[in-house]
Amino acid sequence: MTWQVDVLTLFPEMFPGFLGYSLAGRALEEQRWSLQTHALREFGSGRHKAVDDTPFGGGAGMVIRADILDAALEATKPQDNRPIIYLSPKGRLLQQADVKRFASGRGIYCICGRYEGIDERIFQKHAIEEVSVGDYVLSGGEPAALVLMDACVRLLPGVMGSDQSEVEESFSEGLLEYPHYTKPAQWAGLKVPGVLLSGHHGAIASWRKEQAKTITKERRPDLWATYQHRYGSGVS
Ligand code: ADE
Repeated sequence: MTWQVDVLTLFPEMFPGFLGYSLAGRALEEQRWSLQTHALREFGSGRHKAVDDTPFGGGAGMVIRADILDAALEATKPQDNRPIIYLSPKGRLLQQADVKRFASGRGIYCICGRYEGIDERIFQKHAIEEVSVGDYVLSGGEPAALVLMDACVRLLPGVMGSDQSEVEESFSEGLLEYPHYTKPAQWAGLKVPGVLLSGHHGAIASWRKEQAKTITKERRPDLWATYQHRYGSGVS
């Protein structure tokens, strides 16, 4: 069965966006995954199809109404048990483990918000996972949904070449990637690390592992602490 993404949004024209290009785009054409957008506006109320209103208690911005969102969800939500995901900066931070879980299921249903957010009561009626793609605030959930979709689609069978697995492995293991080099071997007076030209696969593998550890230690002490915890504090 095809891995399916549904997106509920005020801006259906933002999809598939950059996912129409490159490997994900080709995979979409090849029907390795499918994408369906649902326009939240169609469920709006009155002549202007309003979807939002001012917040109770006052304050800036507008809030998407629970009744409107509910009507849209009831009409379009998945009949299988695909997760319903609301993209939001106050969601749980997306991890590669979540991406793997989503990619190995039947697909995902994404809700994209705008304005200040959505009426909180929606979470009491529907089982919705609130997910953030990073500790920064975007102007809406759409770019976040595209990021989430990209991370999932590249893991689907047949989407990436065989070289995907290596990058995947190092990250899943909890380390950042080692540095890469290609021809020419000398450029602007700069040399490629000698071990990479040595032909010794074992030496190359251990050099790469050391580099990955060093970079992780320097740039992401949080990941490094988790790695040490996972593989024993003896690793350095
Ligand atoms: N919407 C706005 N900012 C977001 C973020 N960082 N992650 C997910 N959805 C968002």
